[in-house]
Amino acid sequence: MTTVADILKSKPDPTVYTIDPATSVFEAVQLMAQKNIGALVVVEHGQVVGMVSERDYARKIALMARTSRDTPLRDIMTSPVMYVRPQQTSEQCMALMTENRLRHLPVMEDGRLIGLISIGDLVKDIISEQQFIIEQLEHYISGQRG
Ligand SMILES: NC(=O)c1ccc[n+]([C@@H]2O[C@H](COP(=O)([O-])OP(=O)(O)OC[C@H]3O[C@@H](n4cnc5c(N)ncnc54)[C@H](O)[C@@H]3O)[C@@H](O)[C@H]2O)c1
Repeated sequence: MTTVADILKSKPDPTVYTIDPATSVFEAVQLMAQKNIGALVVVEHGQVVGMVSERDYARKIALMARTSRDTPLRDIMTSPVMYVRPQQTSEQCMALMTENRLRHLPVMEDGRLIGLISIGDLVKDIISEQQFIIEQLEHYISGQRG
């Protein structure tokens, strides 16, 4: 069974992109576009205090007639943050995401932020696990025929 630690190891870039809550929403959106990611972990004085995603921007800035340059992240971030530990399984993460309508989960170990997994990371893992099972079954079937 794949764990969060396994998924983190398979990510090409181990950096966790974080941002300060006093930063403007505009700068956060710029950073997300630059890094080609959909969410940032909001960190203040070394502590995780929130998450901000493209969805927060769409719903809390664009739809509410605020301006992204004048709004600090603190005003739109999602808090408190739901997180996972490295020993948890991909199934547990999927369940958490589905139940709570989340697409990103920070990974914490001993109070430290060590990674982030997204719904896309989990889907990628599930696809490769299924691919493996299909290949095993194909070998089994062709072995039976031979
Ligand atoms: N082929 C792959 O390896 C792969 C992996 C993940 C996502 N994707 C694709 O990317 C698209 C969007 O993915 P998504 O909805 O999962 O979200 P996303 O765009 O936020 O995530 C894309 C990748 O960036 C990473 N990421 C996002 N925010 C991060 C942060 N703050 N710090 C560190 N890493 C961060 C995620 O873990 C994921 O690996 C989808 O089309 C998905 O299929 C592909």
